[in-house]
Amino acid sequence: MLQDPSNRAKDVPEFGGIGMRILVIGSGGREHALCWALLASSLTDALYCAPGNAGIAQDADCVPIRADDIPAIRAFARDNAIDLVVVGPEAPLCAGLVDALNEDGTLAFGPTAAAARLEGSKGFTKDICARYGIPTAAYARFSDLGAARAELARTGAPVVIKADGLAAGKGVIMAETNDQAEAALRDMLEGASFGAAGAEVVMEEWLHGEEASFFALVDGDTALPLASAQDHKRVGDGDTGPNTGGMGAYSPAPIVTGAVAGRIMDEIIEPTLRAMKDMGCPYSGVLYAGLMITDSGPKLIEYNVRFGDPECQVLMARLKSDLLPGLIAAADGGLRHFDLRWHDDAALTVVMAARGYPGSYASGTEIRGIEKAEGIDGVTVFHAGTAMQDGRLVAAGGRVLNVTARAPTIREAQAKAYRAVDCIDWPGGFCRRDIGFRAV
Ligand code: AMP
Ligand code: GLY
Repeated sequence: MLQDPSNRAKDVPEFGGIGMRILVIGSGGREHALCWALLASSLTDALYCAPGNAGIAQDADCVPIRADDIPAIRAFARDNAIDLVVVGPEAPLCAGLVDALNEDGTLAFGPTAAAARLEGSKGFTKDICARYGIPTAAYARFSDLGAARAELARTGAPVVIKADGLAAGKGVIMAETNDQAEAALRDMLEGASFGAAGAEVVMEEWLHGEEASFFALVDGDTALPLASAQDHKRVGDGDTGPNTGGMGAYSPAPIVTGAVAGRIMDEIIEPTLRAMKDMGCPYSGVLYAGLMITDSGPKLIEYNVRFGDPECQVLMARLKSDLLPGLIAAADGGLRHFDLRWHDDAALTVVMAARGYPGSYASGTEIRGIEKAEGIDGVTVFHAGTAMQDGRLVAAGGRVLNVTARAPTIREAQAKAYRAVDCIDWPGGFCRRDIGFRAV
């Protein structure tokens, strides 16, 4: 284990009731990492997760409420005197979960629905970039196929075509030829291949460079930089094969030097906060900037309004400070005088997925050996999709485990993570063997 929260019971008040009762929303590895960090907080009195998974159940009390069931979450928070709700995934944020909780006076970490448009509408974000001079790919927005075709005829491929709305990470087509671009436009605008999310499209310039992610806590006014990370979206070694939710990640991203981080804050994050305030929907929560580091500096590819998954797992592994006061400060406007400390170490996580992912895969295959993997100093195994079945731990999703290691360098963290992976006995699973290759 990276920290030792084992001396803390799940729901035994240590401070005669001055601690906090916390509810985390979600069921993936990101939420396991958040629960793990929150359990280690001396301010946490009770920790719940809705709906959670078998690994989260070791750290928190899991309650059988879906992450998108806003009325049930709201009622649970009221009935259980929850002091802070921490929302993991984007869908409930875009659907207004934080607005609903705020109406009840429940403190919640995450943006309102209006502020969550930074992820929920790519066109919304691009328009902010245009108005505030935030560096990003040149773009145009279309809901009419004829107009989109005319623009395509003018610019020509290569070009990137994106569904405007949430499309579970699948609404981006990198079109190398005019035919591919034409097909993508037709699918989205005529064929409704992404439903309402694709009723409007963004067509944009294809950027070149190295991708990185950057995270900041935001309280409406103030942004506190967290750290950088890099993930691997393709399923196969060498970044080949179909896209996934992420097969591994590491932090920090070597390409995000101190100077680059400064530019990201000054040229991208800060103007975005100003824009959101000017529009009357100040942003609070964690802001996740997906970036292309180009020859002319960092450019915004997209925003997400939540922690990345699996990037969150490596950020939590590196965080030295108590996470909880940071989340509270972001939620209630107190970040200005706040700071967080980080381990100098790097962290790297390897996603173990069910064979067949991201296509069809089997559930219910048995997993053994997690304790042995966690016996390695500096290793924690976060659960992304597991369940208990007749006393056995089984896979219950595509991405199933996040084997996470902290060490002085990315190379050492990588070696340690794969040593831990090799302790896990799960014939039904697989992983990439090269997570972090760009950095080692
Ligand atoms: P997004 O969902 O907007 O993050 O896009 C998914 C992935 O598509 C990104 O992580 C990039 O790899 C790629 N991508 C999106 N937009 C661009 C662009 N304008 N230029 C190059 N690559 C892009
Ligand atoms: N790992 C990519 C994401 O969370 O969107």
